[in-house]
Amino acid sequence: MLKIGVLASGKGSNLQAIIDAIESGKVSATIGIVISNKSNACALLRAQRHGITSIFLDPKESKTREEYDARIVAHLEKEGVELVVLAGFMRILSPYFIKAYKSKIMNIHPALLPSFPGGHGQRQAVDYGVKISGATVHFVDEGCDTGPIILQVAVPVEDDDTEETLSARILEQEHKIYPLAIQLYAEGKLEVIGRKVTIRQK
Ligand code: GAR
Repeated sequence: MLKIGVLASGKGSNLQAIIDAIESGKVSATIGIVISNKSNACALLRAQRHGITSIFLDPKESKTREEYDARIVAHLEKEGVELVVLAGFMRILSPYFIKAYKSKIMNIHPALLPSFPGGHGQRQAVDYGVKISGATVHFVDEGCDTGPIILQVAVPVEDDDTEETLSARILEQEHKIYPLAIQLYAEGKLEVIGRKVTIRQK
């Protein structure tokens, strides 16, 4: 069974969607550990409620990004994590981390990449005035939200949308495509060639 490690900084609704999908048998994986860079992240409580090992690692206790990432990687390796899932993890991973889990890190972004990378993808979409935005699950590479795209879903932007209303509409879709992407990975159906990901049908 695929063992995943989830990194999260915030409320953890994507983590919850993944937990629910695992518990209902839609995703064939187990969560080895949940790690947060925020002591008060709701994601940690969600993990605890489901009996999943969860830890807070304080970035202030590390001198450099690499040193912090090395601590995370040590925990992931100790738990035998095979796929790292970033679920609202608001830190850029160092090249050290990317190398340690090359092509084995997924992220979800609240916009249709390559549009609106970085922070506040939903606010960027509202401010720009696009009519359609969405969500993207992608593999993580050394860039910021630049890795090979696994799944995308389009979400309409309404005239009176605020960052909050659009975020809620996008989040609903995130909760569907993230578990699906993990399941496709678990089934060995994702083939990465260059920057293209193809989904094998069988
Ligand atoms: C989600 O909307 C996710 O796409 C976004 O943070 C939110 C986390 O929500 N991630 C990023 O913006 C990454 N750049 P959650 O904690 O409820 O899963």
